[in-house]
Amino acid sequence: MTDTVYLNGKFLPQDQAFVPVMDRGFVFGDGVYEVIPAYGGRLFRLDEHLKRLADSLAGIRLSNPMSSSAWAEILNQLVDANGGGEQSVYLQVTRGHAPRDHAFPPNTEPTVFISSSPLKPVAKEILEKGVAAISLEDIRWKHCHIKAIALLPNILLRQQAIDVGAAEAILIRDGVVTEGAASNVFIVKNGVIKTPPKGPFLLPGITRDLVLELAAANAIQFQESSFGADELQQADEIWLSSSTKEILPVTKLDDNSIGNGQPGPVWQAMIKLYQDYKQALIAGKVE
Ligand code: PDD
Repeated sequence: MTDTVYLNGKFLPQDQAFVPVMDRGFVFGDGVYEVIPAYGGRLFRLDEHLKRLADSLAGIRLSNPMSSSAWAEILNQLVDANGGGEQSVYLQVTRGHAPRDHAFPPNTEPTVFISSSPLKPVAKEILEKGVAAISLEDIRWKHCHIKAIALLPNILLRQQAIDVGAAEAILIRDGVVTEGAASNVFIVKNGVIKTPPKGPFLLPGITRDLVLELAAANAIQFQESSFGADELQQADEIWLSSSTKEILPVTKLDDNSIGNGQPGPVWQAMIKLYQDYKQALIAGKVE
């Protein structure tokens, strides 16, 4: 049962939640969002997600409609209302509804919508064999650090991957790898993890940060530095990270095998650390 949503101050069944058609989220894609996983009914890295939400709102010049504690209370209530356990919570804030005009509307209340869906574990077969990815030119705008609801380029890029039987598009801007259409990217070479540094060309992923934190805590070497298409192709391992897919090993890129074509040893170590961290969260030992 995961059908209670939150809309502008009210908890209600999803089929009774409506927004006016002139909502700027619908008309312009004028809003930002977060996807927050819950494990054992506990929201994962909530403070970090709320901090990124605040940054995204500031990035589109929309004031944060709620304090962190108010957000936390509503989000936890929604997770409880939907039965706890493993959920993927989707939260979006738009610039509200107003007659269509590109300029910001004066005195308009933002629309706040939160929903939840069951978070299914990543299939065993995927973890055993890895996924395929393709590399594509990054056609997105130059503010990719903002988690904007306007995802048309990401959708088109991801679909191009799906159309050729791959799971993700790894994006390259001016010869430099940025991220996936809906994930961050890591490579491993000679035991060292590498991921592109944060900046305007990629989303500062919450999962990405946790991977680096776990690497640091467990003496696994890592670098936040840029790399190009050749380094990507010649990596021993490639991983993708996101809140819903956790850390996925990429074993095929553009029809070429990565490493020996199997999920690599550094990924095996990292996914174990990640699962241990989740168990610690469920046990209430970490946030
Ligand atoms: N997407 N980069 C992009 C472009 C993303 O859309 C996402 C996540 C990430 C990973 O961020 P995080 O680790 O915080 O989930 C990186 C979410 C899951 C989505 O749009 O559904």
